Amino acid sequence: MQSTNYLILLLLLFWTNLGLVVVNCYSSDLIQDTRSLESIDLSNNGMSTIPDELFCQLSNLATINLSNNQFSDVVSIGFSAKRKNNGQTSSWSHCTINTTVQLDLSYNRLKVLTDRGFSTLTHLKVLRLNNNRISRAEESSLNGLSELALLDLSNNELVALPPGFFTPIKASLRELYLQNNSISVLPPFQFNGLQWIHVLNMSHNEIANNWINTDTFAELRSLVTLDLSYNQLNKIDSSTFRSQTRLEELYLHHNKIESIADHAFSSLSNLQTLVLSYNHLNKLDSVECFSGLNKLPSLHLDHNRIEQIHSEIFRNLTNLMDLNLSHNWLKKSVPGAMSWTHSLRNLDLSYNFISDIGNASYQGNAQLYSLDLEGNQINNLSRGVFTDLPFLRIINLAKNQIETIEEATFDDVPALHVLRLDSNSLSNINNLFNNLRDLLMLNISANKIVWFDYAHIPYGLQWLDIHDNLIDSLANHFEVQSSLRLTTLDASHNRITHLSKASLPNSIEVVLLNNNLINRIELSTFLGKQNLTRVDLTNNRLTILHMNALRLSKVALRRPLPEFNISKNPFQCDCNMEWLQKMVTTNESRQYPKIVDVNQIMCDFVFKKKVSPMPLIQADMSNFLCPYKSHCFTLCHCCDFDACDCEMMCPENCVCYYDQGWNTNIVDCSANGHTVVPPRIPMDATELHLDGNNIDMLSSHTFIGRKYMKILHLNNSNILTINNRTFNGLIALEVLNLSHNRLRTLHGYEFERLVNLTELYLDHNRISSIANNTFAALTLLQILHLDHNYIVEFEIWNFNMNSHLLTIKLAANPWSCECHYIEPALDWVHSKIHLISDARYLECYYNETSGIPLLPKFNISSCTNLSARKMLAQRFQVENFVPIFVISGALLVIIVVIFIVILIINFFFKGESSRAHASPQTIHKHLNPLAHTHSLIHTTRGSVFNDDLRNKRNEWRKC
Ligand SMILES: *[C@@H]1O[C@H](CO)[C@@H](O)[C@H](O)[C@H]1NC(C)=O
Ligand SMILES: *[C@@H]1O[C@H](CO)[C@@H](O)[C@H](O)[C@H]1NC(C)=O
Ligand SMILES: *[C@@H]1O[C@H](CO)[C@@H](O)[C@H](O)[C@H]1NC(C)=O
Ligand SMILES: *[C@@H]1O[C@H](CO)[C@@H](O)[C@H](O)[C@H]1NC(C)=O
Repeated sequence: MQSTNYLILLLLLFWTNLGLVVVNCYSSDLIQDTRSLESIDLSNNGMSTIPDELFCQLSNLATINLSNNQFSDVVSIGFSAKRKNNGQTSSWSHCTINTTVQLDLSYNRLKVLTDRGFSTLTHLKVLRLNNNRISRAEESSLNGLSELALLDLSNNELVALPPGFFTPIKASLRELYLQNNSISVLPPFQFNGLQWIHVLNMSHNEIANNWINTDTFAELRSLVTLDLSYNQLNKIDSSTFRSQTRLEELYLHHNKIESIADHAFSSLSNLQTLVLSYNHLNKLDSVECFSGLNKLPSLHLDHNRIEQIHSEIFRNLTNLMDLNLSHNWLKKSVPGAMSWTHSLRNLDLSYNFISDIGNASYQGNAQLYSLDLEGNQINNLSRGVFTDLPFLRIINLAKNQIETIEEATFDDVPALHVLRLDSNSLSNINNLFNNLRDLLMLNISANKIVWFDYAHIPYGLQWLDIHDNLIDSLANHFEVQSSLRLTTLDASHNRITHLSKASLPNSIEVVLLNNNLINRIELSTFLGKQNLTRVDLTNNRLTILHMNALRLSKVALRRPLPEFNISKNPFQCDCNMEWLQKMVTTNESRQYPKIVDVNQIMCDFVFKKKVSPMPLIQADMSNFLCPYKSHCFTLCHCCDFDACDCEMMCPENCVCYYDQGWNTNIVDCSANGHTVVPPRIPMDATELHLDGNNIDMLSSHTFIGRKYMKILHLNNSNILTINNRTFNGLIALEVLNLSHNRLRTLHGYEFERLVNLTELYLDHNRISSIANNTFAALTLLQILHLDHNYIVEFEIWNFNMNSHLLTIKLAANPWSCECHYIEPALDWVHSKIHLISDARYLECYYNETSGIPLLPKFNISSCTNLSARKMLAQRFQVENFVPIFVISGALLVIIVVIFIVILIINFFFKGESSRAHASPQTIHKHLNPLAHTHSLIHTTRGSVFNDDLRNKRNEWRKC
């Protein structure tokens, strides 16, 4: 039996939700034999009730954690006192848990604290009720808890507590937390009797002055910490805190305090911290205001509206060390009151309206360590403003309007460690800091400094911020880079144009040079900077970066490689920049930094036809190109003959590029008015771009010997004729682009030697006839574009021989609907549908209407046997000869005229009439074999088919 009990208890402790069920089933028998249990954690279980007297037998229980459950009613937790009715007599329940010292009920849903809700826990010391929804409490809620020392009611919805609420616990209570409620009412004598309480937190409530009087805190004689911040107080009376002689911390910030009565704090002789920040104080013009605070070391008066301070107000605050007067309305000069604060170490006068710090009252203060004057209106500094401040180490003069500082102004404080002058209007820093031998940090960023030299800063300086100035060079006239100790330099957002070895001290560790105009980094700039860890060169003007510009002294194995950021520069990735990509993968020498933003580096390439700019890491080796005019390999004996193997001459009106290993050799003659293929294309060319020219005919052997050429672009060049053997010699050719030309016929011999061809573009030509064997030799062909031509019947099932085909385009051709053709063609289309990328636009034509789509389903019974095919073909041809028709039309007219004349003559000379009856058509046919089609076009004009054709023609013309 015992073991089951333990098992169940384990379940109870560790299982969520299930725990509750178990408790209900086994009720109070359950925990009989677990006397030694000291702590129960039932948090996060979703529990809403616990049976009465469940914990009665646990005689050693010390803490019960019921936080984060669903309790909404104090009675249901089972610690309430109950009247037992045994017949007539009634008595209080006997079950008391006399050991429990802590109960955590935070994060539940309690709404009301009811009568004797926890009274069975007679020895309770700590009761946490924070983060519930308690809005009301009965006066007797805490009855029976005579030992309670800590009560946390914070983060509830209390508006007030009944007057006698604390009476049962008044002798024991030490800490009371009421913050984050909505308490606006404090009954008189609410806290009476709580003479042992140390900590009272009432911050974030709505307490106003009408509920605070002489008696409110009168009996809280032991208070050490009192937090009244974030309330609605608007003044401090002289008697409010009169009995808190032990008080050490008093928080009154974020109220609306406008006035402090004389002697208001005079009893608080032990006060260590007084926070009056974020109030509405305007004038501290009574000398008695802070009287009695003789030991106070820390006074916070920031974020008020203080304009006036009585000059003797701090006279007896002889212990004051930290005084914060920032964000007030102090005008012109520093108030005289500081002349009495002889112990002052930190004085914060930032964000006031002080314009003059000559003869300031803090002068002569032997202890002053830090002086903060940020965000004032100080104009110029002259010698003498920092006299008699022997201990001063930190000066903050940021965000003022300082334009000039007299030379040697800071010589009065030679022991200075930190100096901030950022966000001013300084233009010259010559001879200002040289004598500050102990200076460690100097911030002169966001000024207007034009000229910087390392001679301007003390040798010992370790941290220098000069960002956002107008500096164009990190000058080092005296070459002191090895004497300096500078480790961190922020020189970003300047106008620096170049870097050399002397630009950075040898001691440098972190240097920010981003957002400058750096376009040149000299070799060895970073050599000898042994402690370098990080360099930011982003957002500069670097186009070319030599590998040795980033060279480092060998980095020891135990040290990580320095991290460089170099992205956001307009890098020209030519053949000299290839190293950068290689360094990403192989950087084992430990003599070059780690480029951490390599993924963001964009490359601009000289040969723009490739995607440009492109991320460096995506670029291929063959993208890193440099142009050349001519080149002769070192082992070559270069001759003067045209086809000489190793002499590389870039043809006229072309631009040529090579990569580092001469593996890529691009000849670019695009769109440059060539009418013939330029002679002397380099023998080693791997790519030739001849597109956009006007080359009528490609003659035989044009490319002979170019055995490395892989890519040939001849598109858009008005090519009409390809000869036998035109492409002979291009044994390595992989890509041939002949699209957008005027080719009409493929005879079959054009591509017979191009055995390595994988891509062939013939689209947008005028091809109407293709020999069956045209593509037979192209066994490796993968991509073929034949769309936008005039092909009527080509036995497309021949493509079965090109077994590597991946994509083929065939649409926008007037394929024949004739049965003998369309039946096998359609079969083939269906079997290769996955290859035909434009299959859904395929159409066939069989009469003079527009095309019939072959997909999704061409009704095969609608094929035609009419021999309209030839006519169709001719009709498409006809479109090419419009100018000829104009001429022949004119001819026809002339002939007709002649005919009429002959007729008339005949009419007059009847004798010869028998021979003159030949039809005009016949005559015309004799003169021009195309006249037949000419008449045909006249008969079809206006038909839908014809309109469609005309549209198409316009389309073709555009190319
Ligand atoms: C707690 O109560 C039990 C009886 O229920 C008693 O024997 C024991 O002495 C009490 N312990 C304390 C510390 O009061
Ligand atoms: C300063 O203290 C002296 C005696 O300790 C007292 O006479 C004087 O009134 C005090 N002054 C102020 C301004 O509180
Ligand atoms: C680098 O750092 C080490 C250790 O902090 C230091 O001793 C050494 O002087 C530094 N080197 C330079 C060149 O400043
Ligand atoms: C092209 O070559 C073929 C044989 O390969 C030949 O029959 C044909 O006449 C040649 N055509 C021309 C124009 O040379």
